[in-house]
Amino acid sequence: MVVRTLFTNISELVTVSAEGKQAKVGADLGNLNVHKNAAMLVSDTIEWIGESHEIQHIIDTNNDVTVVNCRNKCIIPGFVDSHTHIVFAGNRSNEFARRLQGVTYQQIASEGGGILATMRAVRQSSVEDLYNTGKQLALSALRYGTTTIEIKSGYGLSVEAELNQLKAIKKLQQELPVRIVSTFLGAHDFPPEYHANREQYIDILINQMIPHVAEEGLAEYCDVFADTGYYTIEQSRRILTAAQQAGLKLRVHADELTPFGAAELAAELHAHSADHLLYISQQGINAMRNAGTVATLLPGTAYTLRLQYAPARTMIDANNIIALATDCNPGSCFMENMQQVLSLACMNMKMSIEESLTAATLHGATALRRADSIGSLELGKQADFCILDTANYADLVYHFGVNHIQQVWIAGKQVV
Ligand code: NIG
Ligand code: FE
Repeated sequence: MVVRTLFTNISELVTVSAEGKQAKVGADLGNLNVHKNAAMLVSDTIEWIGESHEIQHIIDTNNDVTVVNCRNKCIIPGFVDSHTHIVFAGNRSNEFARRLQGVTYQQIASEGGGILATMRAVRQSSVEDLYNTGKQLALSALRYGTTTIEIKSGYGLSVEAELNQLKAIKKLQQELPVRIVSTFLGAHDFPPEYHANREQYIDILINQMIPHVAEEGLAEYCDVFADTGYYTIEQSRRILTAAQQAGLKLRVHADELTPFGAAELAAELHAHSADHLLYISQQGINAMRNAGTVATLLPGTAYTLRLQYAPARTMIDANNIIALATDCNPGSCFMENMQQVLSLACMNMKMSIEESLTAATLHGATALRRADSIGSLELGKQADFCILDTANYADLVYHFGVNHIQQVWIAGKQVV
């Protein structure tokens, strides 16, 4: 039997409707398509959107409908966090404290800390341990309104440990209510045993890990950390091309720490998304716009590492597709709250509340190529949404530092 729920007295129903488009660019980015004093009928998908005074007809024509009175609160689409590293082990608060004293991220990495510190902890962990850390963070993100979350491997850096991370992600996909997308990031760093022979590790990535991950269906995407001291453009191109040939889709950590030309590479390979982009060039901006590669901005990382922010306004003016995500990870940004991301985007990247909401919902879905089913509240799409504790969606950013989520629904079922 189909269970239907009718939501009434919605002060503002923020649909982020794209009217058939996969994305909203330029001035359209800030167009949320808000319905005032609205009502919405859902099964697992959205069946009807109208005004509160029209509900009697819906109640009369749907026998067993359950009515939820939203008492003049807002509904927004669930957040789509398209970039996280929440399956890990260990704690790097010591590195964070050192960075507050002025030591840089790269200095810590050159001493064997950073990604390799987490790698050592992950290699000593079981799939169950990794699952438990991921579960805690994914459920926390859910309470802050995230209904879809992408999770990357990349802290194992060996065949066995990378597979353990991907198995933990798979178990999360099977057991948690939140929707999860899995990404293989074996090219996150070079493991110490191959520091003197990086080509040998790339050979393992291309000839062992990628074929195995693709054949076993352990990940949908492949990602590479293309930056100074990590993977060169040429190495990244080889790894990503091999992944594409094996059937994986592509996303790239691009121009995060230095201007590197990685956005251009992501566009060249038609990656679905290039992420970070703090140091993107004008050529990179143009190439990504022309290729339709989503620009996923992660302001929590610029904040935590005290770096310059990505040039969001320049990219919006250039008609790039802008998404926002957390980058939640134990090193450069330990934060899983998308409401905080909205705040950082508005305050430090000069985005409007409306632009940042589109980027954190519909465009997170575009970055994961799921905009046809999630990311906005439109007829036929999945009923993934949050009921806020306020009548004005603007309060999400205006009244900051608190959790505005009252209820979370995924596929028409209440999960928070
Ligand atoms: O997205 N840039 C690479 N990866 C992460 C940081 C990983 C870490 O420090 O553990 C990031 O910032
Ligand atoms: Fe990242």
